[in-house]
Amino acid sequence: MKKFYITTPIYYVNDKPHLGHSYTTIAADILARYCRSKNVEVFYLTGTDEHGSKIAEAASKNGFTPQEWVDKNVEEFKLLWERLNISYDYFIRTTGEKHVKKVQEVFSKLLKTGDIYKGKYSGWYCVACESYYTDTQILSFACPDCAKEVWKLEEESYFFKLSKYQDALLEYYEKHPEFLQPSWRALEMKNFVKSGLKDLSVSRTKVKWGITVPGDEAHTIYVWFDALLNYLSAAEGKNIWPCDVHFIGKEIFKFHAVIWSAMLMALGEKLPKTVFAHGWWTVNGEKMSKSKGNFVNPHTFIDNYGCDAYRYFVMSQIPFGQDGDFSEKSFFDKYNSNLANNLGNLISRTFSMLEKFSLQDIKAEVDKESSLGKLIVDFDKKYSKFMESIEFIKALELIWEVINEANKTIDSEKPWNLFKIDKVKLEKVLKNLLSAIEIVSKSLSCFMPETSEKIKKIIMDRKVTEPLFPRKDGKD
Ligand code: ME8
Ligand code: MG
Repeated sequence: MKKFYITTPIYYVNDKPHLGHSYTTIAADILARYCRSKNVEVFYLTGTDEHGSKIAEAASKNGFTPQEWVDKNVEEFKLLWERLNISYDYFIRTTGEKHVKKVQEVFSKLLKTGDIYKGKYSGWYCVACESYYTDTQILSFACPDCAKEVWKLEEESYFFKLSKYQDALLEYYEKHPEFLQPSWRALEMKNFVKSGLKDLSVSRTKVKWGITVPGDEAHTIYVWFDALLNYLSAAEGKNIWPCDVHFIGKEIFKFHAVIWSAMLMALGEKLPKTVFAHGWWTVNGEKMSKSKGNFVNPHTFIDNYGCDAYRYFVMSQIPFGQDGDFSEKSFFDKYNSNLANNLGNLISRTFSMLEKFSLQDIKAEVDKESSLGKLIVDFDKKYSKFMESIEFIKALELIWEVINEANKTIDSEKPWNLFKIDKVKLEKVLKNLLSAIEIVSKSLSCFMPETSEKIKKIIMDRKVTEPLFPRKDGKD
């Protein structure tokens, strides 16, 4: 069977990874782990986008050659993914030999078919966005996307016949409603295509740090044309195309929904099943930016709260797809209430009762008549539905519903009283709690793999040796 193919964007290596990069990569990791838990074989791809003037500029500013710079910075990404327990199967770098060859091959092929042709380009170029803009898009020499200065460039250029694919794209969107997600975001893409597509300049003479056009060394290939092809070059020879899910941020939806789709049509390749564009994080209500210097460094939070607390926070804070805000205060509050309190206490209370009442030998058994038991019985079906429709926050809420109901059960059943008056009932309650904890541990394995393992061990050993999430607010 074809493996389930999941990707993240390949990130620019001009800087260190931050909250935004970690978010997409964690989301993709959660889906990858979920698929594997269902015995579906997965190919999870991530990597780095290493060409273009933005990277060359960052390198020279720091006194490195572009190659030295990318070789150094790529390690920052790999390190963070290791610390975040990211289970990717392959890490692609666009400076890799195999990828470079593939991009040149594609370019030559499209030249032959006439989907790429040589012409002249004139427009406003933004180095930060690696994008050209037309006269009407430019207001007072500023980039419409990032507001930085833009430069008028005129150059000989190769063009990709994007305009030719306008109707085919619209038809494809219509026939495949699951292609662009979330669906409410897809509308913008459809309207953009309907408003008319222009051919796309796909080579540069002024940019030196890039893949050269085969047979015309004065040109390098446009960094986006190069980057998008990573999904195909990494898949080569693996029999995994088409991709199942491209996870991306909303700001690069157009590149995927329109340009990438048209490139694949021109190549006669199938289109990915789904492109999912999630929302953007702000930090304390503000956009993350270089000028504000307010990029959230994931390492700080991993150091203070642990990898799983970080993975949990970013996934539970906003519904996947929408925008949301990051603040240390909300992280801290959520850690204490949902992790230390609700989850941590459930585990420590349950196992200390088992010990106190000498009931370590009992086995999990669902009490189907209880409200907790009812949640457990319905759990798998609901959980799978949420995971498969990429509604991560709903899956987490479902898990916390079980946790909270289990805590409520302890409070209302008062096992310490039952110990004195009704041992049969006591066992029944604790067996039910054990079932709840088993299901929590199992379903948390995609979101919080280490925690899930720790709980599994606690279940086996029937004892808690240290708190899963030590409180950070001194209220122990
Ligand atoms: O665009 N909130 O790379 P990039 C949420 N190389 N996600 C964010 C974010 C934020 N504030 N900031 C960044 C590129 N991201 C290209 C991609 S793909 C063929 C080429 C995440 O380093 C989000 O996934 O600018 C976004 O799409 C990506 O980082 C952009 O990373
Ligand atoms: Mg970007």
